[in-house]
Amino acid sequence: MPPPRLGILTAGGDCAGLNAVIRGIVCAAAKSNMEVMGFPEGYEGLVNPSAARVLTLANTQGIEAQGGTILGSTNKGRFQLRRSADGTFTLPDSLLRAARQAFDQNRVSALVILGGDGSLRTALQLSRAGLRIIGVPKTIDNDIESTDVTFGFDTAVARVADAAGNLRTTADSHRRVLIIEVMGRHTGWLALHGGIAGGADIILLPEIPFDSDLLVKFLKDAERRGTRSLLAVVAEGARARSGRQIRHRTSSGDSRLGGIGNFVESLIATRIGRETRCCSLGHLQRGGAPTAADRILGQQFGVHAVELVREGMFGRMVSFRFGAVTDVSLADAVNRRRAVLPESQILRHARSLGVFLGDG
Ligand code: F6P
Repeated sequence: MPPPRLGILTAGGDCAGLNAVIRGIVCAAAKSNMEVMGFPEGYEGLVNPSAARVLTLANTQGIEAQGGTILGSTNKGRFQLRRSADGTFTLPDSLLRAARQAFDQNRVSALVILGGDGSLRTALQLSRAGLRIIGVPKTIDNDIESTDVTFGFDTAVARVADAAGNLRTTADSHRRVLIIEVMGRHTGWLALHGGIAGGADIILLPEIPFDSDLLVKFLKDAERRGTRSLLAVVAEGARARSGRQIRHRTSSGDSRLGGIGNFVESLIATRIGRETRCCSLGHLQRGGAPTAADRILGQQFGVHAVELVREGMFGRMVSFRFGAVTDVSLADAVNRRRAVLPESQILRHARSLGVFLGDG
C-alpha cells in the first residue's frame, strides 16, 4: 500500500515563516510515514492538480530560513469568497468539485491550508463540504481571532523596529519629524509592537482614532522641551477622529488602505510648520528571511498540523494560546477580527513609556 498523502497550499498574501511551516509539515509527516504534496499558487493549484509536486526532506532542506513561500501564493482568484446579500459566504459547486478532484487525482487524504482570514474562510467552506482540512493561520497583521500570535508577525515587527532605528538617526541630524506608515490592515498590532520596539514617540492605530489637536499639542510640547527629533509609527488603517480611513487605488483597480502617513505629514507641516517626512514601509515588512522566533513558531505549527491529521481532527485551526501551540475550531476562528483592546496591558505600558497614542 502506498503511504498516505497530505496536501499543502499557501494562500493569500505571503509573510515570513511560511516555508518554516512547510518544513515542519514535511519533517513531521516523514516521521509518520506520510507523503506530502505541495499545490502551487494557492487555491489555484487545486484547479490544476497535475502541477502538484512531492515535497521531501531533501527538497525542502533549509527552507525554514527562507522568506516567501516555495509553493507560491495568490490572494485573488477563483476561490476568493464574496459575501452574499444575506451575509453568508459560499463556494461555487464547480470549485468544490475541482477541490475534490484534486484530492482524488493526487491521492491526497487531507489538506493543510496556510492562510489569513480570507483564505481560512475558504478553508472552512471546503471543510463544511466534507473535505479533510486543517487551517494554519498566517498574517503579519496578527488579527486572527483564537490565536495570540501568528508567524510572520515577529519578523514584520523587527522590520518596523529596524526602519524606525534608521529613520531616527536622520531625523536627529535634521531635527525633523519622521513618520513611518506600516501595514496591519484594520488592526494596530504591527504599529504598536513595531513602534514600541523602535522607540517611537507617537503611535497611531485604527483602534484609537486620533485627535489632531492633541497630536499638534504633543508635538509643540515636545518642541518646547527641546526634543531634537520625533518619530511616529502610523498604521495604514489609522484615521483622524474627524475623518475616515484613507484608501488608494492600485494599478489593478483594487482599493487599498494607504496614505494616512502623508496625511499626518501635511497636518504637521501646516499646523506647526516643522519639517516632516513620511516613509511607507510597504512590502519590506513581508519580505525577507524570518526571524528565529518565526522559524521556530512556523515549524511548531507545521508539526502540530500533522499531529491533527494523525489524530483525525479535521476542521481545526492550529493556534498559539497562553504560551503553547494548540488548536481551535476553524469555524470559531474565522470572521472574527482580533483587535487591540483599550484595556490591553501593552497599550497601558506604551502610555507609561510616554508614547502618544492619539487620545491624550
Ligand atoms: O494582510 C496582510 C497585508 O500585508 C496587509 O497588512 C496589507 O494591507 C495587505 O496585506 C497588502 O496586500 P497586497 O500584498 O495585496 O498589497
